[in-house]
Amino acid sequence: MNTVTVAEDRAAPVASYDPVARSLHWLTVLLVLAEYIVGSLMPRIRLGTPFVLLIQLHFALGSGLLLVVLARILWRLTHRPPPPPPLPVWQKLVAGATHFALYVALLLMPLAGWASASAHGYPVRAFGVIPFPALVPYKAHVGFKLGDLHADVIYWILLALIVMHVGAALYHRLVKRDAVLSRMLPGW
Ligand code: HEM
Ligand code: HEM
Repeated sequence: MNTVTVAEDRAAPVASYDPVARSLHWLTVLLVLAEYIVGSLMPRIRLGTPFVLLIQLHFALGSGLLLVVLARILWRLTHRPPPPPPLPVWQKLVAGATHFALYVALLLMPLAGWASASAHGYPVRAFGVIPFPALVPYKAHVGFKLGDLHADVIYWILLALIVMHVGAALYHRLVKRDAVLSRMLPGW
């Protein structure tokens, strides 16, 4: 039987993700948060809506996020994460499935937004400097449809995954008091 007490468990040394993986994780968090806020503040996008600063910012940060997520996936595929702390098998499976779904949603959200931006005739520059080509032609129906998915469907799926994920991280930290959060935030 495992007789490790809570205090001993938290004191036990825990291997955290490497600094690059951690930096990419927290940069993703910042950019996603900014995108939900800027997306909610910017004017509704229709054909001919002026390309105001908030829309430019939404596209610049969101397409930048796409690059960050691609870099993150590449890093993840080439660098083994630290061995997980002792957790029930079902929790490992749910965590793995949630992380995978998060990566998929983190790719689909900017891709669908980019398609909508192209269909509306806007240019897209990652972080305002790296030009992206048009993903679909001007006024392409598929671009408008993807815009609807971006704003009405993937929007909620990504948000729900984030709420589950953050809820799990806080549950581990505040209720179980184990070392899961320290893997991404050493010292916590
Ligand atoms: C994870 C990244 C992103 C998040 C969280 C996000 C979030 C949002 C939000 C909250 C809205 C407003 C929805 C509404 O008013 O109902 C929106 C709309 C929009 N976003 Fe994003 N966005 C992201 C990435 C992008 C990217 C990379 C682009 C383009 C390069 C983009 C283009 C658009 C467009 C064109 C709309 C209007 C949708 C339409 O009605 O066609 N978004 N986004
Ligand atoms: C936009 C919000 C967030 C997104 C998109 C996100 C995404 C992810 C992803 C994809 C992973 C899997 C890493 C891997 O490849 O192994 C991960 C791991 C992790 N995240 Fe987040 N995260 C977010 C916010 C947060 C927040 C706010 C916290 C803390 C309160 C957090 C704590 C963690 C922890 C502790 C892990 C490591 C889990 C483990 O031990 O395997 N995340 N996150």
